[in-house]
Amino acid sequence: MKKRLFSAVQPSGNLHLGNYLGALQNWVKLQDDYEAMFCVVDLHAITVPQDPAALRQKTLEIAKMYLAAGVDPAKCTLFVQSHVKEHTELAWILNTIAKVSELERMTQFKDKSQKDSKEGIGAGLLTYPVLMAADILLYDTVVVPVGKDQMQHIELARTLARRFNDTFGETFAVPECNLSKEGALIMALDDPAKKMSKSAASEYNYIALTDDAETVRKKIKKAVTDSGTEIVYSDSKPALKNLLNIYALLSDKKPEAVAGEYAGKGYADFKNDLAEVIVNFLAPFQERLKALSDEEVLKMLAAGAEKARTFASEKMVQVRTRVGFLA
Ligand code: AMP
Ligand code: TRP
Repeated sequence: MKKRLFSAVQPSGNLHLGNYLGALQNWVKLQDDYEAMFCVVDLHAITVPQDPAALRQKTLEIAKMYLAAGVDPAKCTLFVQSHVKEHTELAWILNTIAKVSELERMTQFKDKSQKDSKEGIGAGLLTYPVLMAADILLYDTVVVPVGKDQMQHIELARTLARRFNDTFGETFAVPECNLSKEGALIMALDDPAKKMSKSAASEYNYIALTDDAETVRKKIKKAVTDSGTEIVYSDSKPALKNLLNIYALLSDKKPEAVAGEYAGKGYADFKNDLAEVIVNFLAPFQERLKALSDEEVLKMLAAGAEKARTFASEKMVQVRTRVGFLA
């Protein structure tokens, strides 16, 4: 029997190359080897205010992005989080064993709560990683492919799995993080010390998966580079290293090999070619995205939720018994 894999993205903001290279590309590689589940986590998205109509549209769009990236519903289970009520139920139960101090320590919570001022933020932002743990533990997940920024949340899911098992008896598998080697942390194009992020102030931070060719060329041209002229793959040239990683991941090569191809050439040649590598990836991706109809995707999501529910409801029977709820 194949082992379970689970991952998810929130339907908020625009997906960018960091999301693709850190998560989606890895998902597609792993979906053959695992019993994979890919979820659009709308319950997570509402931890910050969302417009209902926009949320519905975004949820569908993210599912389409998974499909356009190569997620194959014939091989995996593709579904929307709120369609499987067990996620919320398990999240509540896990909330009772999670500690406030653990949640206050989460880097993402600290960042977000600082940005939005403490009085104004919802309690959901604090308990967000508990819901994420529920997503993972509900399916006896052993592998969670995510970017590096989610590692702390996976660590909490592991802690909660062990704590529940110790208190109530062996119930949950203890999941592990799976990181893409070069894609785990794609940095911002305008600042190699920051991660590529959809909430960045400048659009020159990222390349959105919906950017057109001209925009890509413009953004790559403006991307910061390190001092010097040589194309080398080295920690001492973090901006170039990031660009080489992007190039390599999109062309299925090793970054050192890409650097080798540009020996004796300058940044301009390299950047021109990098822009074309990105455009050549995005153009067919966007074609596939456009070709997907709302109706067919809604049908896939309904079928996916059905499959997920079967497993989730069985697991929750076990959890309820362990906790001591009347049958
Ligand atoms: P988010 O953008 O936070 O919804 O993240 C969705 C997925 O993309 C998660 O698995 C993240 O870890 C991953 N991710 C987000 N930003 C990056 C980045 N700059 N580099 C690599 N992976 C990323
Ligand atoms: N918190 C994750 C993010 O922002 C999304 C997410 C929710 C997730 N539940 C998950 C990722 C379960 C992996 C597994 O990127």
